[in-house]
Amino acid sequence: MIPTFSVTTRVVSGLGSLALLPDELAALGARRVAVVADRGVIDAGLLATVLRPVDAGLIGVTVAIDPDPDVAEAERAAETARRHRCDSVVAVGGGSALGAAKAVAIRLTNDEPIDRYAGVGRVPLTPAPTLAVPTTAGSGSEVSQVLVLHEAGRPEELVVRSPGCEPRTALLDGTVLRGLPQAPMLYAGLDALSHGLEAQWARRGSSFTRALGIAAARDVLDLLASAVDGAASGRNAEGGNDDVLQSLLEAACAANMACGNSGLTLVHALSTAPSVHLPHGLQNGVLLPHVARFNSGFSPRAVTELVTELPRLYETVGFAERFSPGSVGRAEAEAMVTASTGHPFRANNVRESSDEQLRGLLAAAGAEL
Ligand SMILES: [Fe+2]
Repeated sequence: MIPTFSVTTRVVSGLGSLALLPDELAALGARRVAVVADRGVIDAGLLATVLRPVDAGLIGVTVAIDPDPDVAEAERAAETARRHRCDSVVAVGGGSALGAAKAVAIRLTNDEPIDRYAGVGRVPLTPAPTLAVPTTAGSGSEVSQVLVLHEAGRPEELVVRSPGCEPRTALLDGTVLRGLPQAPMLYAGLDALSHGLEAQWARRGSSFTRALGIAAARDVLDLLASAVDGAASGRNAEGGNDDVLQSLLEAACAANMACGNSGLTLVHALSTAPSVHLPHGLQNGVLLPHVARFNSGFSPRAVTELVTELPRLYETVGFAERFSPGSVGRAEAEAMVTASTGHPFRANNVRESSDEQLRGLLAAAGAEL
């Protein structure tokens, strides 16, 4: 397979860049905006801060999104935006809100329910223009074509991926991370670290994805402990750690530019089971060192060097490379293996894996098999 590489989202990045929001919306031709935002971001008052420069008359409606939205929640959000005759979307939050916002943008221009477009390249009409403001340094969803919804009863997540589903503009301002608590800061950072390293293990990788992914992983390794410590100590909240937060936000974005083109691999293949109710970044953070060991004979030298730094980071931030007792029992572990079966992320991993090898990997990570 010949790899391809493209990043079509315009990235506006820098401390204070939120002030450019009105200009960027004007450039998109936005006249009536649906704001799709993480409920926690709204409740914390952060949405009001983000939207402060925007003329209130431009906003048609605001929709709150809970973590891990399903098809019904995305459809409700889309129906609200359609009812208010919105022509564009502003997405504010982490991966869940940004994913739901992509569903809203798709449904503003396409008439079928969002699950009809599951798969790759199945969205017929270009979604409404979307501007994304990520409030975690993790998913990198602000530059990806992918939206993920969680459907109870399905063995896998519901994934829609189509060219044009990526936000037109991503606005990265590290000041939005000032109030992010310690745990979501850590889990999001571990997700971004996984994205950067998995791009190195991807069969569909290229020199472009490897360069971006390795630089992003390097930055996360260097910055995450400071960001997590700043969340705990209050230094982030006081604005004393803004440069670190800005760089971390950019690293998470770059990591997705890498894995969005190379595809993900074994860590994310195992962390896609909807029945495992642990934060996405926590699952990836636990699995990452185990997958790194599994892939060790197949990894480029630059990756091997970075992986040797994982224990130091984990010790500094107080994160164990094992699931806590009772959190991943036999049913959850089997669901993880089942979700990975036939999954393109598993097939994309540089080393082939049997179900038995994956059960061994999960057992080493603390799953009770
Ligand atoms: Fe992820």
